[in-house]
Amino acid sequence: MSKNYIITILCFAGLLCGVSCKKVDEEQFDKQTKTDLLDTRYNRFLQYPLDSLAFPRSASLNSQKIKKVSSSDWTSGFFAGNFWQMYQLTGDENFKNKAKKWTAFIEKEKFNDHTHDMGFKVYCSFGKGLEVEENEDYRHVIVKSAQTLSTRFNKNMEVIRSWDFNKDKWQFPVIIDNMMNLELLFEATKISGDSSFHKLAVKHANTTLKNHFRSDNSTWHVIDYDTINYQPRLKITHQGYNDDSSWARGQAWAIYGFTMAYRYTKDSNYLEQAIATASFYLNHKNLPKDGIPYWDFNDPTIPNAPRDVSAGAIVASAFVELYSYTKNEIYLDYSKKLVSSLTSVDYILKDSIKAPFILDHSTGNWPKKDEVDEPIVYGDYYFLETLIRLKN
Ligand code: GLY
Repeated sequence: MSKNYIITILCFAGLLCGVSCKKVDEEQFDKQTKTDLLDTRYNRFLQYPLDSLAFPRSASLNSQKIKKVSSSDWTSGFFAGNFWQMYQLTGDENFKNKAKKWTAFIEKEKFNDHTHDMGFKVYCSFGKGLEVEENEDYRHVIVKSAQTLSTRFNKNMEVIRSWDFNKDKWQFPVIIDNMMNLELLFEATKISGDSSFHKLAVKHANTTLKNHFRSDNSTWHVIDYDTINYQPRLKITHQGYNDDSSWARGQAWAIYGFTMAYRYTKDSNYLEQAIATASFYLNHKNLPKDGIPYWDFNDPTIPNAPRDVSAGAIVASAFVELYSYTKNEIYLDYSKKLVSSLTSVDYILKDSIKAPFILDHSTGNWPKKDEVDEPIVYGDYYFLETLIRLKN
């Protein structure tokens, strides 16, 4: 395990968020403690048994019970992605070996056309694998998955359908999270040379740009399109506090999604939207000082509302990329501040917790009282991605 590398990242993060005035030996002790904490957490992953049918998704700390899901769940690809990323961070082959095995368990999802979550499932597993090594089989999986996802695109509305449930309430629901699936489509064009995936992703992004944002540049969660006149008929929430509130993870998906879409298109409208939503997020009066957002910016119980580490980690990762296009230090400072906050004892899980997760305090679905203030697999995924992006 390359502890020196982690110490370097942590020192870098610490220096830029105001701890440089601490005594050097005290600082070194602090970094060493953080590194040992992370090291312990990484080892919990290696100790976890393989299971092709049950992917760890979250944990209830009171009971130490791990919630496991099948490969069809939108979160299934993150666990494999975490192994790939721990390999990228440490160089330890044990992580790579496990990454390959957990990734293979996802492959059948390339045929699953019942959901838009293909990018989360396939790109966060097979796509991360391709960052590590050349693999022709992985390329084929990505292209097949892109073909399957494309079947959910409606040419009249020019968007990919997100969900198939609630058919009595919604006609053609599209959620802001869906921007994240475009990375798979953009990459599928790069791999195959078939430009149809790229074109479809651009259409989806343009329609989202037109309809998903409020005048203050926050985003709604769900836009339901009318299947007769193809226009938005409802602008609502499903996982946020209410239809007019700003669900933190939704804002995070928007910032990440449009920053990523700019990477592939160089369309300045996408960059401008990412910057505008980033500004909404960073300047919000309810963003706490440590940078970890409450699960929804408009929960009336703030400051007693639960946080959502996953939203903070998604934004931190996106901001490293946004910094690379804008050279605005505000974004880099936020990412470093977040790493510093998340590597404190307040957020890293204690040694005694056996579950294969790193960070506590994510919130999955507050309205359903499901996974509130818990370790969740995608919080770890975007945290690890932030560490790697800061390194690069
Ligand atoms: N894509 C589902 C979520 O963010 O909870």
